[in-house]
Amino acid sequence: MTASKTTPRRDLRDPPGGAVSPFHITGLDAEQILDSRGRPTLAVTLTLAAGASGWAAVPSGASTGTREAVELRDGEAGRYDGGGVTRAIASVTGPLAELATARPWPDLAALDEAMIELDGTSSKARLGGNALVGVSMAAARALAAERGRPLWAFLAPPEAAPRLPVPHFNVVNGGAHAPNELDFQEFMIAPIGAPSMAEAVRAGAEIYARLRRRLAADGQPTGLGDEGGFAPGYTHPRQVLTALVAAITDAGYTPGRDGVAIALDPAASQFHHDGRYHLAGQALSSTEMIELYAQLATEFPIWSIEDGLAEDDTDGWRQLTQRLGERLQLVGDDNFVTNPAIIEHAIAAGIGNAALIKVNQVGTVTETLQAMQVCRKHGYAQMVSHRSGETVDDFIADLVVGTGCGQIKSGAPARGERVAKYNRLTHIAARRPDLPYGLPN
Ligand code: PGA
Ligand code: ZN
Repeated sequence: MTASKTTPRRDLRDPPGGAVSPFHITGLDAEQILDSRGRPTLAVTLTLAAGASGWAAVPSGASTGTREAVELRDGEAGRYDGGGVTRAIASVTGPLAELATARPWPDLAALDEAMIELDGTSSKARLGGNALVGVSMAAARALAAERGRPLWAFLAPPEAAPRLPVPHFNVVNGGAHAPNELDFQEFMIAPIGAPSMAEAVRAGAEIYARLRRRLAADGQPTGLGDEGGFAPGYTHPRQVLTALVAAITDAGYTPGRDGVAIALDPAASQFHHDGRYHLAGQALSSTEMIELYAQLATEFPIWSIEDGLAEDDTDGWRQLTQRLGERLQLVGDDNFVTNPAIIEHAIAAGIGNAALIKVNQVGTVTETLQAMQVCRKHGYAQMVSHRSGETVDDFIADLVVGTGCGQIKSGAPARGERVAKYNRLTHIAARRPDLPYGLPN
């Protein structure tokens, strides 16, 4: 037996900011950088007295929930179309830096709570959710570095079992993420049956390559949407699903939960107007949408549907959960916004059976971990997620491993800002072959 196997794994038990000495922040800085869509966002650097530092870059969504933490943007018409983030940067270098350096912090949660209190709004609108989340993520990285632990181990709650997640590769883009006619936003492939992280990544890349050929052979454009998936000229989801199953088979994999399954994020709030779902030229009721999903899930190996109905269609969501909750994973994104209180309420109301987890949607790492804890407590599944506007920051790869929730979506297996997360997972998997891969039991 090797030494490494007999050494206790302190890093799996020690919670974020657990029983360790308080930390002192000596430096906090931020600059405006560009995200993957060429829009401004901010990068934050936080330095600790002991010398360690942490860096984080803030992602940004396009199909956002109405109750998300507010992204503070300048609104200055002549600069970046009003999208500059110099005000958020001023929050970091001004009030947040003053707060952070004023006293020692017992743990990350205390820093996050103090930032929330200083902001003083329920939506983080005053200092900016983008400012707070950048500081929170950079602090987590600095603390992990100071303690000599990988970020995923630092983020691991004491009761969670770290594991490598099933990647959900978004291979066809529509909705707000592509200039095509598809109403559904995301068509993902999920190698649930893969034996390892490496084989899951391989399946994603091979199927993506086969899909490109299929689309080209069908006379479709093979240009990409915002998350690196193809943006074909199809109009009905059925056409995409048919191409996906063909690509999975072409690449030598088995469509379905034993092999490679399909997950959808229709992002239905985006095509819900005047009480109707405007899909492929039709205007459907909630009940008709639910029946469409039931039909599609019978015809195709769909295992998960996120935001199948609009965020304010609460009755529809309840009906959807009753009708399909036994058969399918039903993920709340726009309606849950990674908010622990909202998720708790939704669970009590029988809405969905899984939550999407986006750090910038709620605005601090601590609240994100709380939202994940609520899900664990109630047996809700969870999927950690990137945003459509991304950077090379791979924070979410560590978050998904440490919390052991077993699912991530980070776009296509292509484009630097998307593969940064998958490549980080590959690195963790290579370093820790003892971590299990796949959905939790
Ligand atoms: P967004 O989309 O990052 O543009 O909000 C992602 C999603 O809806 O899951
Ligand atoms: Zn979504």
